Amino acid sequence: MITFKEGEIKPSGNMYFIYGDGGTGKTSLSKEFKGNKVSFIFDGSYNALADTTDTFVFAFDDTDAEQIQAMVDYYIEKVIGGENIDVIVLDNVTALQNWVLENIDGKSKDGRQNYQKLQVWFRNLGMRLRRSRKTVLVTAHQIDNGSSGLDGKGRFEPDMNAKTFNALSAPFDIVGRIYKNDGERYIDLDSENGNHAKNRIDDRTLIKANELVEPAEQKELPTKKTQKAPKKADKTFEEQVADVANELGKRA
Ligand SMILES: Nc1ncnc2c1ncn2[C@@H]1O[C@H](COP(=O)(O)OP(=O)(O)OP(=O)(O)O)[C@@H](O)[C@H]1O
Ligand SMILES: [Mg+2]
Repeated sequence: MITFKEGEIKPSGNMYFIYGDGGTGKTSLSKEFKGNKVSFIFDGSYNALADTTDTFVFAFDDTDAEQIQAMVDYYIEKVIGGENIDVIVLDNVTALQNWVLENIDGKSKDGRQNYQKLQVWFRNLGMRLRRSRKTVLVTAHQIDNGSSGLDGKGRFEPDMNAKTFNALSAPFDIVGRIYKNDGERYIDLDSENGNHAKNRIDDRTLIKANELVEPAEQKELPTKKTQKAPKKADKTFEEQVADVANELGKRA
């Protein structure tokens, strides 16, 4: 649990879940984010980051598969605690999910229970990422169900067990599908298209991929308020919690 005093709720960094076909620019998307980044890469596609200088990469491979949950739990916790880290990236949770499911299946043959365990592990991962209050980017592969019906709605979805996707993506602010069209990269954020999508940050429904983090219109707004650096707390966290408890006690 985190507590905030009245009027002092500090917003978390935004959380983005972007899925798409191979080569659409999922791994490269992290370059749009400013600050120190840590990328957990599960599909071996780290070459796209070779020209970066601000990203620490954990690239997992088949030799890590058997201990993948323990490794991810351990390193995520370290990264969450890292004060100099601004952005956490999990690149391709489709690959991560498949390793985790294999491990769970290897231990028990009860298919239904195994999917429940999978969902619980991913729900906890999503909550821990939110608890970090850092900016988070998670990517996944897409499934193309082909155009069904006249309007082709509901054609695309992340390549994951549906309930596992729901469990993981619940705390995310944005869910979108990245795709290429005429050499330009776009992200579809519109749930009206029947694909998995949401945008809790603003009302944009279709954006260019390079405008995911900074909307183009906002860059030009001269009135945009500059953010003040947060004041350093003059009390320890425990003292602040005690103050809140005290205050609530007085009012009861
Ligand atoms: N915004 C961009 N502008 C120009 N080129 C880009 C952009 N984003 C990605 N690319 C290029 O497209 C290629 C594929 O990008 P990237 O590796 O990020 O895709 P991906 O979706 O992660 O692919 P995979 O699913 O195979 O991991 C790379 O060569 C990359 O340099
Ligand atoms: Mg990639």
